[in-house]
Amino acid sequence: PADSALVIAVDGPSGSGKSSTARGVARALGLRYLDTGAMYRGMTWWMIQHRVPVDDPAAVAARAGEPDIAMGTDPDAPAIRVDGTDVAQPIRTREVTNAVSLVSAVPEVRARLVDLQRRIIGEARRDGAGIVMEGRDIGSVVAPEATLKVYLTASENARAERRTKELDADPATTVALTRTELARRDRIDSTRATSPLAKADDAVEIDSTVLSLQEVVDEVLRLADKAVRR
Ligand code: DC
Repeated sequence: PADSALVIAVDGPSGSGKSSTARGVARALGLRYLDTGAMYRGMTWWMIQHRVPVDDPAAVAARAGEPDIAMGTDPDAPAIRVDGTDVAQPIRTREVTNAVSLVSAVPEVRARLVDLQRRIIGEARRDGAGIVMEGRDIGSVVAPEATLKVYLTASENARAERRTKELDADPATTVALTRTELARRDRIDSTRATSPLAKADDAVEIDSTVLSLQEVVDEVLRLADKAVRR
């Protein structure tokens, strides 16, 4: 039955291992996968392309309805198109990364993307497919009805090291710089007025600092198994 489709929420700060974990879980269970951070990045990329001043919330709000954002939900080939352009690469640049917290703090941006995210969950449910969603507010706002909510954390050092590895195409990147930028982003993401990064009351916290990716995935699979048996 469509209403038994599994919805797994994976929230947590930058570099906690959400993407690798969520994709690994989706693959293991044959579920769809949605990277909601990519959607905020896609919106930010579009604002920069259209010369919208990202530090002006009113200017961002006025244009939040314009970009057409299309997401692929295959965990083996996550895809994002903005106005028809494949932006998988450009949304990972430092320019977008450092502007995304400002854009994602704008309520009109969140309303638009949360609506889109709920439609994608609705489609998965209708198809009986199930989905793993990763972000900051999935368990708390986007899918409070999720079958399982995981809140993934790791020490600031571990997170900065992981992020630096992801960014290693950029020679200017060092762990210290990444750590500073990451701390700044976490501060904005955790203190914004509209749905800040927060652990949902019924989320299970997993600290991945000393765990391997496989250990984290296995733990989530164990929790998912437990949740569907309830
Ligand atoms: O997971 P990420 O680093 O790609 O996320 C990029 C930014 O998007 C992050 O700074 C916070 C924001 N974000 C959000 O506000 N809500 C989400 N559900 C996902 C991401």
